[in-house]
Amino acid sequence: MSFRALVLSQGADRKVSGVLETLPDDRLPPGDVTVAVEYSTLNYKDGLVLTTGGGLVKTWPHVGGIDFAGTVEASDNPGFKPGDKVVLNGYRVGELHWGGHASKARVKGDWLVKLPSSISTRRAMAIGTAGYTSMLCVMALEKHGVEPASGEILVTGAAGGVGSVAVAILAKLGYAVVAATGRPQEAAYLTALGAKTIMDRKELLEAPDRPLLSERFAGLVDTVSGVMFAKALAQVKYNGAAAVCGLAAGPSFPGSILPFILRAITVYGIDSVMLPKAPREAAWNRLGTDLPLDKLDSTVSEASLSDLMALAPKILKGEIRGRVVVDVNK
Ligand SMILES: NC(=O)c1ccc[n+]([C@@H]2O[C@H](COP(=O)([O-])OP(=O)(O)OC[C@H]3O[C@@H](n4cnc5c(N)ncnc54)[C@H](OP(=O)(O)O)[C@@H]3O)[C@@H](O)[C@H]2O)c1
Repeated sequence: MSFRALVLSQGADRKVSGVLETLPDDRLPPGDVTVAVEYSTLNYKDGLVLTTGGGLVKTWPHVGGIDFAGTVEASDNPGFKPGDKVVLNGYRVGELHWGGHASKARVKGDWLVKLPSSISTRRAMAIGTAGYTSMLCVMALEKHGVEPASGEILVTGAAGGVGSVAVAILAKLGYAVVAATGRPQEAAYLTALGAKTIMDRKELLEAPDRPLLSERFAGLVDTVSGVMFAKALAQVKYNGAAAVCGLAAGPSFPGSILPFILRAITVYGIDSVMLPKAPREAAWNRLGTDLPLDKLDSTVSEASLSDLMALAPKILKGEIRGRVVVDVNK
């Protein structure tokens, strides 16, 4: 038995090269569940792995792909049987463990989530880590008590993977979404996803001249960090909340303590990678009901394993719109 994989190697200059290979099943890593992968995706983190390794990969050759969805082929784990439709996000699969850019994956069953019946394997990957992270952000705002009546919600990096799904979920739940983007040409796309207002990200790119600006947003989903996050935070209303998950503009931000201590604002850090199984399953179940799957389809472009090396630098430059679904059998 064999499988196809995009096998990555790193040169002395740290540059990663990838070759499509057919490998025997005994090259699969240890694990108690073997999955026939149907679809995978391309995330920002995959972009790092496919270009330089990003310091995330410790051993080469390597197979990337931090997400996959498919059908269980064999299982020694009592929680899974052949034929189960499953999805995997995180647990450092695609970094420390071979991932989904292959037609088979072998992993610990504890890392897998059974897909709700309303979500196909293709749509699961249209959602991917990006969409599942968006749902975690929305759930954090809800837990805080932010409701549609509370006011506008700002989403930064709105035309990206996490941002676009966050816009679609929030709009479906009845929130007034302000979508901040550096790509004004994507305004129609964001409006179709449900954004009420499109904001040119330039408005958020000048550092705030005061630590507190006029109160505007009831909540914030931030995928960008940097000056944009600092300026957005300065506009969150009293007792509002920010769900922060990304660093598309780099990890640091020029912040002030004042929004926290004068406006009682709470920041929720979102980690999708090591999140325990129960909230992970809760998020996937919510995606099955609260994400308008038809709208999601418009965010998707399809690629094959052989397209990935060319797409990777583009996602790092913020040039990919929405979600890339990888048909690993193409
Ligand atoms: N915490 C977690 O568990 C978790 C999970 C998934 C992703 N993430 C992180 O979330 C972030 C977004 O991921 P993604 O998959 O949505 O990536 P993506 O598809 O590349 O989207 C990122 C978006 O951010 C904006 N952007 C990019 N560079 C920027 C810059 N220099 N300044 C301002 N805005 C910039 C762009 O949006 P516009 O074109 O609309 O301006 C871009 O589309 C990444 O940092 C990723 O690592 C974290």
